[in-house]
Amino acid sequence: MSSRQDEPVPQEPHKEAGSPACPAQWVGAAGTAQDPQSRSRHVTEVVSTGPVRHPRTLPATCLGPARLPQPVGAPGGSQLCSLPDPRCPQVQRVLQPLSLSLQQLSRVQHHMLAAMEAGLRLRKGAHTVPMLPTYVRSTPDGTGESWPPAPSRQLRWRTAPIGSGPLRAGGRAVPAAAAPDSPVLLSLQSKLQSWSKGYSCSGVVGRDVGQLLQAAIQRQSHDINVMVVVNDTVATMMGCRLGTKPCEVGLIVGAGTNSCFMEEARYVESLDDNEGRMCVNTEWGTFGDTGAMADILTTYDEHVDAGSLNKGKHRFEKLIGSLYLGEIARLLLVQLAQDKALHAGGTTPQLRTQGMVTALEGGLAAAQCLLQKLGLQPSDPDCFTVQQVCLAVVTRAACLCATSLAAMLTHMRKNRELPQLDVCVGVDGDTFQARRFRQTLLEMTKKLAPECTATLVSAVDDSRAQGVAVVAAVALRLEAQRREVDQLLQPLRLAPRARQQVQALLQCEMERGLRQETHAQASTRMLPTYVRATPDGSERGDFLALDLGGTNFRVLLVKLRSREAGGICMVSEIYSIPPEVAQGPGSQLFDHIVECIVDFQTKQGLWGRTLPLGFTFSFPCQQKSLDQGILLNWTKGFTASGCEGKDVVELLREAVRRKNQFDLDVVAIVNDTVGTMMSCGYDDPNCEVGLIVGTGTNACYMEELRNVEAVPGAEGRMCINMEWGAFGDNGCLDEFFTHFDAQVDRVSLNPGKQRFEKLISGMYLGEIVRMVLVELVEKELLFQGRPCPALQTPGIFPTKFLSTIESDGLALRQASAVLQNLGLAASVEDALLVRKVCQVVSLRAGQLCGAALAAVAEKIRDNRGLAQLAVTVGVDGTLYKLHPHFSQHVQQTVKELAPRCTVTFLQSEDGSGKGAALVAAVACRIAQSRAAPATGQ
Ligand code: BG6
Ligand code: GLC
Repeated sequence: MSSRQDEPVPQEPHKEAGSPACPAQWVGAAGTAQDPQSRSRHVTEVVSTGPVRHPRTLPATCLGPARLPQPVGAPGGSQLCSLPDPRCPQVQRVLQPLSLSLQQLSRVQHHMLAAMEAGLRLRKGAHTVPMLPTYVRSTPDGTGESWPPAPSRQLRWRTAPIGSGPLRAGGRAVPAAAAPDSPVLLSLQSKLQSWSKGYSCSGVVGRDVGQLLQAAIQRQSHDINVMVVVNDTVATMMGCRLGTKPCEVGLIVGAGTNSCFMEEARYVESLDDNEGRMCVNTEWGTFGDTGAMADILTTYDEHVDAGSLNKGKHRFEKLIGSLYLGEIARLLLVQLAQDKALHAGGTTPQLRTQGMVTALEGGLAAAQCLLQKLGLQPSDPDCFTVQQVCLAVVTRAACLCATSLAAMLTHMRKNRELPQLDVCVGVDGDTFQARRFRQTLLEMTKKLAPECTATLVSAVDDSRAQGVAVVAAVALRLEAQRREVDQLLQPLRLAPRARQQVQALLQCEMERGLRQETHAQASTRMLPTYVRATPDGSERGDFLALDLGGTNFRVLLVKLRSREAGGICMVSEIYSIPPEVAQGPGSQLFDHIVECIVDFQTKQGLWGRTLPLGFTFSFPCQQKSLDQGILLNWTKGFTASGCEGKDVVELLREAVRRKNQFDLDVVAIVNDTVGTMMSCGYDDPNCEVGLIVGTGTNACYMEELRNVEAVPGAEGRMCINMEWGAFGDNGCLDEFFTHFDAQVDRVSLNPGKQRFEKLISGMYLGEIVRMVLVELVEKELLFQGRPCPALQTPGIFPTKFLSTIESDGLALRQASAVLQNLGLAASVEDALLVRKVCQVVSLRAGQLCGAALAAVAEKIRDNRGLAQLAVTVGVDGTLYKLHPHFSQHVQQTVKELAPRCTVTFLQSEDGSGKGAALVAAVACRIAQSRAAPATGQ
């Protein structure tokens, strides 16, 4: 070899300045040497104590300007790792197997991605990585969550060496890092799956490490609780953040390698719930254990594996972890010596000794030092060869690490359905501190996952301790918060006993409402409707129908034909009732209704025809006959003056007279429950109950006439409009009302009225949720207690939000979007909490409705003296139809509380207008049959 000046000067290795002569730790070919002292210098660069810590952030991102080592010996750049100088052909030949092309790297990335996805499945096949759920569900939210709590946020710890003895001996390991009288926080996974990185203590694998530690603590009579056990990747992820942005990936490249990331919980098949995210510990070090990397492993790798404590295991780790890289380098040097490319061909006992190379240094001084340690002459050419070997080993490790990081980022991007992913990655491990490693990792990751931007946030000395502390603090906070939230929501939960009580109370109120002497005190009015039978299919003719009182006001033309002639045919038009009309003078409301009828008739070419009209009027009316209905009181936001106590049919007729343009033949007025029952009864003769859960809630059913004391006669049945929305207005349900319900009632248009309806129907559920959210914010359990003026606005949280937020699939995203639209920036935890509130409120509503319906079914069964009743309930209303779970809650509760009734639910598709027309048809038939004798027909 020529003189030192003639030697090729490798670009990176010789740039190192100030590398200690014999640093204690491996830093990679081009990295900044970092001994424990130099690492702790970084600690002074960042805030090591105090509320907010900013770990050192590497300026480069995957998009950053880092330079890849230029391929030297491979024109066209196909070989991207391991770059032996062409002027040393023997060195080049020996190092060649470490060179990997972009194609090979992409293949590894592809396999790793597949292995990760397979690892998330319950039935794991070959080629998987473990993908262990960690039960860490959120990253620090930047509110200064740290341990120990303020004001003293200093971390205290003592480092105790773990010698080789205990590492390989029996399993009674002593806690290694415990500050006296402080909680012990351990960075290991809970149930140890396998040892790695030179550990092999017996009796630990398969056991809960936290428990073992706790037992050891107790043996030593310390008063310390082990609260959490986390993997070092998790501790790193939790301990690093960029300003206030948390890291969502943790990466360790030290003695071993591993990673964790925040995964969408729904993709972790082993989890029972699929809400939000959970940190998954990939344990990617095991990748390749089933042969997935066979094509890239070299004989050196096989040797290293064969000589390791866990032969055949953690194959990926053995290509990257510093514990193994030194050994790979030593084997390469042995080969070079044998090939006479080092030390003029001689070897030494040290060079042949396993484990003699523990630190791969980039600088010349380090190379000299290593050669000396190996008993070799540190000549300039040999120093250069050592540098080349280090460079090749480290570059390959970085490229392989990049394949896995790229796979993980790609997986996250896909699962989050994002075109671009932008995440912070907390990184720890000495290998990572080497500049060569870092640059290669960044560049290669960007190449392999161009649609992902990963900002690497380097851990500092206390990051892991902080991370574990944060996990503990989060666990504590979540537990405390869960308890507080549960306490707050508790009154909204109905125990089975409470559901039975509601059923029994309603049964009692029904009886009282039907009896003359108790009717006035009963909260359910049990109003006779004069509908005596469900449709029998013989109804015929053309009818007008009005449908007032739900979300929409409709005018309809209903043509009743025989089934052969096409059955029922309907045309309808929706008109709005502006709030000022619903809440203005009554005459104005009825004039508006007449205007709509005129418009409809004009559009339908009905001028000149006076069709019989059935009027669905969804408010409580006292009826004395089919065509008369005295409005008892308005409900559901209607307050039009001058109507209560009046016959609404007459009010409509007066408005028609005021218009003086046409005639209207109102033959029947029906409640929407009745219209719905009749409408569904046309298709199912078993339909003897009508249920509405929409803006309001109510039910009707076929009662035995003998029980209806307000109507003479004992034969047959009559449909009773229960008006169960008012159930509890007499105080009988007081024990079930919460202070949230009281607030909703207080600000309503009809305080003290429709108390049951206010627990159930669409007009109020959103308001109940809003009241709960307001209190959660006040108690700083939601939105971190930030003031949310939007939530103070009545009606800002309509019930349709519950349907959206509780829908399956992308529910959390929906929740966040809903809150976002309200100007409320919600974290995943916030979104989960809001969803929980919605669930509790709608569950209670469904259960109450179910309990009431069970009372009705049981009453019918009882009336008829049946052991078993089969009955159909015709149902309508937006809440029942559109809420994703409400109907199940109702049905489930009916099953539970009325086990002797088989209740079938039939949703009304045609609205209650059809039912009103059917009732009108029956009225006409009766009227005609009454008129017939008089006219001699
Ligand atoms: C409609 C019926 O389909 O549902 C109305 O035709 C009824 O008569 C209404 O009042 C109830 O639901 P909502 O959600 O519109 O109040
Ligand atoms: C309200 C009305 C009632 C109606 C129900 C459903 O409770 O008082 O008549 O049936 O809403 O719309």
